[in-house]
Amino acid sequence: MNALQNTWNRLFAQMPALRENDPQRGQAQSGRFRPQLHVSPPTGWLNDPNGLCQIGDVYHVFYQFSPFDPEGGLKFWGHCTSRDLLHWDFAGVPLLPDQPGDCHGVYSGSALTEDGNLYLYYTGNVKRTGSYDYIRTGRETNTMLAISRDGRGIESKECLMTNKDYPAGLTLHVRDPKVWKQDGVYYMIQGARTLDDRGVALLFSSPDRRSWRYIHTLRTANPFGYMWECPDLYELDGKTVLSVSPQGVPADGFRYQNKYQSVICFLEPDFLHASVPDGFQELDAGFDFYAPQTFLARDGRRIQIAWMGVPDEETHTNATLADGWQHILTLPRELSVQNGVLCQNPVRELSAWWNQETSFKVGFCRQTEACFELELFNGGEDFEAAFAGGLVCTYRKSDGLFSLRFTDPQLGGGRTLRARKVGRLSRIRVFFDVSSAEIFLNDGEAVFSTRLYPQAEAYHIQAHGRQLHGFYRFHKANAPTNQCTP
Ligand code: FRU
Repeated sequence: MNALQNTWNRLFAQMPALRENDPQRGQAQSGRFRPQLHVSPPTGWLNDPNGLCQIGDVYHVFYQFSPFDPEGGLKFWGHCTSRDLLHWDFAGVPLLPDQPGDCHGVYSGSALTEDGNLYLYYTGNVKRTGSYDYIRTGRETNTMLAISRDGRGIESKECLMTNKDYPAGLTLHVRDPKVWKQDGVYYMIQGARTLDDRGVALLFSSPDRRSWRYIHTLRTANPFGYMWECPDLYELDGKTVLSVSPQGVPADGFRYQNKYQSVICFLEPDFLHASVPDGFQELDAGFDFYAPQTFLARDGRRIQIAWMGVPDEETHTNATLADGWQHILTLPRELSVQNGVLCQNPVRELSAWWNQETSFKVGFCRQTEACFELELFNGGEDFEAAFAGGLVCTYRKSDGLFSLRFTDPQLGGGRTLRARKVGRLSRIRVFFDVSSAEIFLNDGEAVFSTRLYPQAEAYHIQAHGRQLHGFYRFHKANAPTNQCTP
């Protein structure tokens, strides 16, 4: 353990309200917009999920963390753990920018769990002082490896690759290694920006986790953005999925409306021989979703978590800034491929968490809890549902359009409208957690995620439609669990 980490641990020890199992922890976690079932930073700024994994019965999530400033800054890795993917305990700040190779930020990366160790691969960011464009000149992006036993302390750190080890034709923007093992070989994928400003993904392989050989570059025939961040590559239901977060993709009707995107495509015949097909599936149609990453749970589920935010979005004012923190991660989502579409559904642990359920027929109107699920069946017909007095979901059967609209600009922190053609719509699940809503359509074929900032008295639903019926569910403390059967 190095000096900076010792200093941090001393500071952390003086922050009892942040420590796991501390009676005061609830206080640090509370606050008007603090979610109950989503990862949020105790203080400061959060962005991408990093190093997702499961060790024994414990799930580990790391995240890009700037503890000292809710508007961002120098990046650390924050860490939290959970046994049910819903309730998260802050577990400290294990990765610090404390080496020449990562001194201006420990950027995003992934975890490989093997031999009782956590191998944390990440990008060490270095920015030289001077007048540089920081694209072609003035920065280093190093591929780093930190080894940890439990995710809390770091045993060793080393630099595995620097910019000169990456293939020719790239800018200095190469980052976000995701590492996995397949058929006895280790693979790594990294996002990159080429000298002619195209987003691509680089593949490497290694026999031993430490020495890496470049294999080839995954690229589209036609440009799709100038940079691909946070790539991921995994097998799912017999398909090979490539997931990337491109920057610089222009809006196209209702698609690609956010500043930056998160998309997937299927690679054929496999990632070693594929080129990337033109034509992607956008993973989320809402306002707040970026940099998703996945991991394989011990029970075989492929689980995805994303940042519930988007970088550089000028139109969004996050009301939690006033409380000294900003941003959350999405609910963990189980992935599957259904009829050629990658579907996302909240982890099944969520259904087991609700212990209260009310059913309703032909519309619904009630004061709600701050954390709940609303499951709607519209019989394929038009409907409208308004949440917190100013977030309105509408479905129009005539053209199959589902839209999400903030009628109260303050509630949406400045955002207005997102929409998607979904065709026939039959089932809608809305997960509301204090200051977030995630809306899953037709068993996860389309998802809309957004933050929102309701006044305390505004938790309310008003839903109507000719055939609208469904269930309202929530968790009541001290009531028996598992009463609901969604
Ligand atoms: C994506 C990203 C990554 C980078 C990290 C820095 O949001 O820009 O590419 O590693 O954030 O925080």
